[in-house]
Order: sequence, then C-alpha cells, then structure tokens
Amino acid sequence: MKKILVIHGPNLNLLGKREPGIYGKTTLKQINQALEKAAKKYKIKLIAKQSNHEGEIVDLIGKNKNKASGILINPAAYTHTSVAIRDAILAAGIPTIEVHLSNIHSREEFRHKSLISPVVKGTIMGFGPKSYILGLEALIDLINVK
Ligand code: DQA
Repeated sequence: MKKILVIHGPNLNLLGKREPGIYGKTTLKQINQALEKAAKKYKIKLIAKQSNHEGEIVDLIGKNKNKASGILINPAAYTHTSVAIRDAILAAGIPTIEVHLSNIHSREEFRHKSLISPVVKGTIMGFGPKSYILGLEALIDLINVK
C-alpha cells in the first residue's frame, strides 16, 4: 500500500478557533478525517502529523522520505521563512504538493512569497479545507502515473 506524508505546520492545531474569518471553523481533526476518507478510496495510507517546530518538520520529511511516495504539506508560517524545510523537500526528492487554506496572495505582503513553491510540483490555495482534498487528489494522480 502506497503512503503519503501529510504535514501541517505551526498553529494549524488551532484550526476551528484560530482566526475563523480567515481559516474557517473546520478543525484539524476534521480535515484529517476528510483526507483519510479520500485516501481510502485510492487505497493510500496517510501518515498525518502536525508540528509547531521547524526542525521537527525537517526530521519528519527526512525520516519518511523512503517510506512515503509523496508529501502533502501546509507549511503555514514557515512557508514564508524556511530555507530548511525547502531544502528538506529537495533532499527527499519525492513529489510534493503545497497547500494553503487561504489565498496567500490576497493577504499581507509578507505572505506573498513562498520559499516552498519553487520546489514543489504545484500549490493549491484559497479553497479552505478543500485545498487539502484537491492537493491530495493531485498528488495521488502524480504518484499513480509515475
Ligand atoms: C496558511 C497561510 C500562512 O500565511 C499562515 O501563516 C498560516 C496558514 C494557510 O493555510 O492559509 O498559518 O498556510
């Protein structure tokens, strides 16, 4: 059974309560449940983790790079700052999709730049929790054609 590593970055554990006007009312647990349901259809196993720590995310990518066929990641605030996560994705060398709940380009200027976008297959943003499902489907397509 193929595996996909799902990574939720900092503060995404607070979804549902955190700035609901921007991120909505859906909790991380509900997002993971929806992802599980979608993955099941394709007989894909998910390894889903949330971390508030940059180094921990780097370790997660490194530890799972030989186990997982692809990575679905919402790097959250690290999107805009983390050379370390970008390098970890490059080092892993497996198809990766970046997702965001909000459209980072319609927000503050400091969110417009993603250090992650240039090293992933594609980015899906602005569709709330649906961004994750669309990202997962895109990643499954990539993995299956490989
Ligand atoms: C986010 C956008 C980031 O700018 C922000 O720091 C987040 C969430 C999103 O999913 O819209 O924490 O990645």
